[in-house]
Amino acid sequence: MPVSELSGISAKPDPRRPQRRIPEAHLHACYDRLIAAGLFPARGRICDAGCGTGQISLPLAGRGYAVAGYDIAVEMVQRARAKLPAGLDALYAVADVRALPEADRACDAVVVSKLFMHIADWQAAVLELVRVARPGAPIAHLRDRGAYGTAVRRHFAARLRAAGFARLFLGPDPGSSAELVAFLAGRGWSPVPVATADLTWRFDTSAAETLRGLRERIFAEFWYVPEAAYAAALAETEAWAAAEPGGLDRAETMTARLAVDLFRAGG
Ligand SMILES: C[S@@+](CC[C@H](N)C(=O)[O-])C[C@H]1O[C@@H](n2cnc3c(N)ncnc32)[C@H](O)[C@@H]1O
Repeated sequence: MPVSELSGISAKPDPRRPQRRIPEAHLHACYDRLIAAGLFPARGRICDAGCGTGQISLPLAGRGYAVAGYDIAVEMVQRARAKLPAGLDALYAVADVRALPEADRACDAVVVSKLFMHIADWQAAVLELVRVARPGAPIAHLRDRGAYGTAVRRHFAARLRAAGFARLFLGPDPGSSAELVAFLAGRGWSPVPVATADLTWRFDTSAAETLRGLRERIFAEFWYVPEAAYAAALAETEAWAAAEPGGLDRAETMTARLAVDLFRAGG
């Protein structure tokens, strides 16, 4: 089993950017819809693969599900545990999603969010999710669309593309589900449409804030790019941002939305 490509980087929490988090009310609205449509169990054991700080599964624990969340980053697991209210049936543990400590068919649903883009052999992770899902259990893939494409980030990406780094992420680009859909289709899993276009939220950011994140290499794009090439693109981007109208203080309002890909075997 290869060591995660993320070690060290993924463990960085992002406390200054809480507005990027999916509003909990939206998560509940999403789960309500899935349950009402018969696409998600009303109770049972839920696996949160690559759980981070528990963003998408803590609300499920609060609703009475038995949650098992796994993440490769110790710090993330510690933060999830710290957020877990006493008395809930939830376990957050360190594990690689490519080797989940779950029995075959042990879970009534799998939830996963913003994971696959970090893993070069993401297909191995998907196969693990398939393995732990009991027959009929869904895999719910949640994404926050539109929260990341600031002008500074787009410029930085263009610079690195021009320098020959065409690929954004180690795994599939989170802007599209096409690769995931195709891979799961090959294993007999089909996507089921879920309407979430109304689950949007807005937040303000600035050029300076995006540059800070790029300096700290918080964002997942281009983590594989060597330091020298990354630094050169960043220096050029910093100069470009400073020369733009409004300079580094330039504000940008982002509109994000919750997107859900729901997969069922034989669906
Ligand atoms: C962008 S965060 C998303 C966290 C959470 N799913 C959420 O939506 O808030 C990606 C997470 O995937 C975890 N991760 C990356 N590769 C992993 C692996 N091979 N096994 C388990 N977790 C992994 C990282 O440590 C990180 O916490």
